[in-house]
Amino acid sequence: MSLPYRTALVTGASSGIGRAIAEALAGAGLDVLAVGRDAAALASLQTACGAVPVQADVRDRAAMARIVDAHTIDVLVNNAGLLLTRGKFQDGTAAAIEDMVAVNLTAPLQLARLALPGMIARGRGHLVFIGSSAGRTPHPDLAVYGATKAAIGHFCDSLRGDLLGTGVRVTEIAPGRVRSKLYRDTIGLKAVDAVLYDGVAPVEPEDVAALLLTALAMPAHVDVSRMEVYPTTQAIAGTRLHRTETAS
Ligand SMILES: NC(=O)c1ccc[n+]([C@@H]2O[C@H](COP(=O)([O-])OP(=O)(O)OC[C@H]3O[C@@H](n4cnc5c(N)ncnc54)[C@H](OP(=O)(O)O)[C@@H]3O)[C@@H](O)[C@H]2O)c1
Repeated sequence: MSLPYRTALVTGASSGIGRAIAEALAGAGLDVLAVGRDAAALASLQTACGAVPVQADVRDRAAMARIVDAHTIDVLVNNAGLLLTRGKFQDGTAAAIEDMVAVNLTAPLQLARLALPGMIARGRGHLVFIGSSAGRTPHPDLAVYGATKAAIGHFCDSLRGDLLGTGVRVTEIAPGRVRSKLYRDTIGLKAVDAVLYDGVAPVEPEDVAALLLTALAMPAHVDVSRMEVYPTTQAIAGTRLHRTETAS
């Protein structure tokens, strides 16, 4: 697939969806800057597809600024994300709220702010955000995570308005269940197959990467603003009721 871009920066490229996106973009001929904290995983990605490892925390604004300043970024894939709590909001910790907001929401906005001046000056570029089904509809037990993803979706819609006339495109991909290590902190890697994936046929990271390539390959006058993708076995619907016991 031929893409109208030369260089991509992918955050969270050490694992899951980000790794698959980095491999797909490299396979399509782009120079890929692969951001993550796990140096060994980034080295293995480099061996697999040539993506250049950039060991950094997306919360480190100065480090992110140095990376953006040193390159001409055509495609920014804001993919890095954390899911630290899976349970009632009232049982969660203050630190988990801060970390999820910082990685899932603040860092993508700050990175977009850094990348946009160059894109606007060149009259082209593509900002990609990985949202979530948890940001599209309420998901009890994922209130903080869902709030960060809902904010990303709303931001994308507003940003497209701000960027009208600049030639810069904005795409949000909001997946349902994807097979990855996202639940390592809540379910644990040993139990995750049994809890989330067995018998479900989840979306695979490579499926998300294929969708992204399709959006990037569309002609310049077409902006795929949002893609929602679910396993064929998953639907988001319904409501919850708590009924108070009444004496009979
Ligand atoms: N899996 C799903 O069902 C699903 C569904 C909807 C949306 N998503 C979203 O998809 C994105 C990718 O998640 P995934 O499912 O592929 O999970 P994953 O395998 O856990 O990947 C998460 C990535 O984020 C990176 N990351 C986390 N904190 C970081 C930080 N402070 N600085 C730099 N990188 C950081 C991790 O890299 P390091 O540990 O090396 O830093 C890792 O590469 C996330 O935004 C997630 O919310 C996932």
